[in-house]
Amino acid sequence: MQLRAPQANCSQCPRLVDFRNTNREQYPAFFNAPVPAFGPLTAPLLVVGLAPGLKGANQTGRPFTGDAAGDLLYPTLIKFGLAVGDYGANSDDGLEMAHVRITNAVRCVPPQNKVIAAEITACNDFLTSEIKAMKNLSAIVALGTVAHGAVLSALGLKKSAFKFAHGAQHPVSDTLMLADSYHCSRYNTNTGRLTPEMFEAVFAAIQV
Ligand code: URA
Repeated sequence: MQLRAPQANCSQCPRLVDFRNTNREQYPAFFNAPVPAFGPLTAPLLVVGLAPGLKGANQTGRPFTGDAAGDLLYPTLIKFGLAVGDYGANSDDGLEMAHVRITNAVRCVPPQNKVIAAEITACNDFLTSEIKAMKNLSAIVALGTVAHGAVLSALGLKKSAFKFAHGAQHPVSDTLMLADSYHCSRYNTNTGRLTPEMFEAVFAAIQV
């Protein structure tokens, strides 16, 4: 199946378009567009986050890059051999995504870091397209409840049948496992809800 990705001026979500236009004026050097997935379509693993951060992925144009959450995510992917190189918090760091692709439930930066249900729904076709285009996909890591729900919607599955829990693994088909993790946000790591050990355990348990 051919990959569908949002255009730079995607107009599906009025609130996000307004915010994008404001940001294009305020931060003209930023990427300020739907952030594309990062990593090869041939990867066996897909990591799904929430949405770009204003001065992170929305600035750099690469998921989690420059966002506090990337400071835990990328070193973890490197530690498990899923990514190769050094994470430099910018899109020119040369980091190679060897066996993993990363995307977000919502591709555009939301105001106050909060997405609304209509935006998750509007962006879900792109996630469906990502999943269908990944022919070797055997596991998806959902970072947080929004990503978990978005993945289930993209797969056409009922949320009530697969409850989110940190560390849970849900077989969603004969060939695909959905693994849950608390989001690696600074809020979760600062409050101790998610420790680096807890996060690493999610990746250690995945067979890809
Ligand atoms: N940056 C992203 O790209 N996604 C998240 O979920 C958080 C930060």
